[in-house]
Amino acid sequence: MNSKIREKALLVQSPSLPDREVLNGYIDEIYKSRWLTNNGHLVQELEKKLTGYLDVPYLVLTANGTSALQLALKLFNIDKEVITTPFTFAATGQAIEWVGAKPVFADIDKRSLCLCPKQVSNKISPHTQAILPVNVYGRTAHNTELEELARRHNLKLIYDGAQSFGPPSLHQKTALTSGDATALSFHATKIFNTVEGGALILKSEEDYLKAQSLINFGYQDGKPGHVGTNAKMNEIEAAFGLANLEHINKEIVYRKLLTEAYKDQLADFSNSNLLKLTKSPNYAYFPLQFIDEQMLLKVDQALKVQNVFGRRYFYPLQPGSVADDLPVASRVARNSYCLPLHCNMTKDDVTMICDTIRTAVLPAHAYRAQC
Ligand SMILES: Cc1ncc(COP(=O)(O)O)c(C=O)c1O
Repeated sequence: MNSKIREKALLVQSPSLPDREVLNGYIDEIYKSRWLTNNGHLVQELEKKLTGYLDVPYLVLTANGTSALQLALKLFNIDKEVITTPFTFAATGQAIEWVGAKPVFADIDKRSLCLCPKQVSNKISPHTQAILPVNVYGRTAHNTELEELARRHNLKLIYDGAQSFGPPSLHQKTALTSGDATALSFHATKIFNTVEGGALILKSEEDYLKAQSLINFGYQDGKPGHVGTNAKMNEIEAAFGLANLEHINKEIVYRKLLTEAYKDQLADFSNSNLLKLTKSPNYAYFPLQFIDEQMLLKVDQALKVQNVFGRRYFYPLQPGSVADDLPVASRVARNSYCLPLHCNMTKDDVTMICDTIRTAVLPAHAYRAQC
């Protein structure tokens, strides 16, 4: 095993920074126009480019992923009950509560790790207004069943796609266009970032225009209309996004290369069930599931000694969810772990991490790689 301990901590995510010259070009434009916010040229340009890159009908840029979720809920007048997953980041449930609605937690499917349609069906009540699945690690699943359920019960279907940025070639076709809306996060830790930022993907021009007005104090045609909020992206963030978009394909290819290196180097455990690999179709994460929490903690500790910091995504379950009610999510949350995956690490880092895992896990057994 590599005995040299890293001087600089290797974190689970590390932001992709734009090329300085490319960024400077956009910043020069801002200095020339002195237009800093309120739907400036760069926000408009980023919106147009992302709509094309992601191949989605309509996209509204927002201040962050959480405000994109809140926007979707407000857009569809959601204020009673929303069925969602307990296996997600705190923002999902908090966005629901922020608009005055109640999150109702349904269990996840053990294979997809996403909201299980059958469990959702069991939780539908007269107060249910929406279903809010999360594209965990960029995965999308059960879209057809969830769409059918939403249609049958006249519910809105709003996806938390904070982790699912990527061109259609990486996803199943409907990944970002299933249901009524999908919220994306462009936070610094995400595969594509605008420092802070997000977007809401929508299906109709009517929803798009209403969303544009809601993020700008409810103004319509320059005049106050309904009650809105301030959830606008600014020009500096858009400049960062435009510059990052220029190298996003290279970023994805590099993440794919690291993912393949992880898979190759962990493949020799393939006869055991000590841990299994979980697919992240857009290469946003490198997730594992250990056989139990003890094994996870052992590996986590061994990596920390090497100055490497993986992360338990998502642990604990969402506040307010009752673990007894949600056996699959509880088990998955206890055993799930993401290894570092980003553009600021090398294949040698992958080798060191895999060696560390091997030393921590062996002499137990091998594990079965399932990807
Ligand atoms: C699943 C999920 N939902 C929502 C969010 C919130 O996004 P943001 O940090 O951009 O508000 C995140 C990001 O951390 C996330 O991972």
